[in-house]
Amino acid sequence: MKRFLPLAALVLLLCACSTGEKRVAVFLYDQADPFVASLSNEIESLWEGTIYRLDVYDGQKSQVVQNEQIEMMLRDPVDLAIINPVDRLGAYAIIRKFQEEDIPVIFFNREPLEKDLDQWDRCFYVGAKAEQGGQIQAEMIMDLFGGDPNHLNRFDRNGDGVLQGVIIRGEQSHQDSEIRTREVRKRLKEEGYAFELLTSLIANWRRKEAYEKMEEVLVLHEGRLEVIFSNNDEMAEGAIERMKERGFFTDDDGNGVVNRDDESWIPIVGIDGLPQAIRSINEGSLYGTVINDWESQARAIVDLAGTILSGREPDESSFELSGGKAIWTDYYPYLSE
Ligand code: BGC
Repeated sequence: MKRFLPLAALVLLLCACSTGEKRVAVFLYDQADPFVASLSNEIESLWEGTIYRLDVYDGQKSQVVQNEQIEMMLRDPVDLAIINPVDRLGAYAIIRKFQEEDIPVIFFNREPLEKDLDQWDRCFYVGAKAEQGGQIQAEMIMDLFGGDPNHLNRFDRNGDGVLQGVIIRGEQSHQDSEIRTREVRKRLKEEGYAFELLTSLIANWRRKEAYEKMEEVLVLHEGRLEVIFSNNDEMAEGAIERMKERGFFTDDDGNGVVNRDDESWIPIVGIDGLPQAIRSINEGSLYGTVINDWESQARAIVDLAGTILSGREPDESSFELSGGKAIWTDYYPYLSE
């Protein structure tokens, strides 16, 4: 593992390496997405005080809009681009464009296919391994149910030895929804836990969509529901909001915290660990989250960008560049104390 540069050194690296003004463009798939917004704000604040100019574009969930923004930028080309593609499966065409202009690209959060990244040695990816996120969610729930698949504790409400659950999924074709979902189920199975999927719903990472779709799920399965795995915290929050309306998560003694011994509590685990989720964990509605370490991801992006802009080799970045292509950050669990 490489040691991370302290912030001051990072700023020095970005300042020390250029004569003229260099420009960097950041293309976001959707600035309204809370996770992406946090990551992008972190990139901007790390960038402050450097001699580079940073322009941020919001793709508003449309690849057409993002393509236009890229075309516009290419008329007055920047020195490096940081891209959160709307359609990660369409990254090939984007890479070709940047390759033609010889502008290095760092993708993040929405992972291009390996074969697309491999077509050029000046494009990179920064993100977290979705497998690990799903595995940690499964582990948190196995622990909560007592850690022994043959003797589930009181959270197995109907005492049938099986976890009855719902999975709330993000966007289809996003690696994080496909792989996190798969790994939750795989990990439970590997450890010998019987899991009955009552239903899986797609809420595209969004709180409102999860809130709306949970209504039908609760009508159909309310009495049997024992656990909810959500691909991110925002959708978990939407589910909690709907469930509160139906009498779950009550704070009977009014102390500001939901007591999980209360019958109306159901464990829900999310992913990301943004401040709103931490508040929900502290108030007892959200059981736990898996931190998707956006701070380290932002540092890795800025560090790699600074290394490239200063004319050094990408693998001289202080973050480990796996296979010469990707920087991976770890996920880690977060439960209330
Ligand atoms: C995050 C989601 C986010 C998505 C956007 C995922 O890694 O967990 O919260 O909406 O990325 O691409």
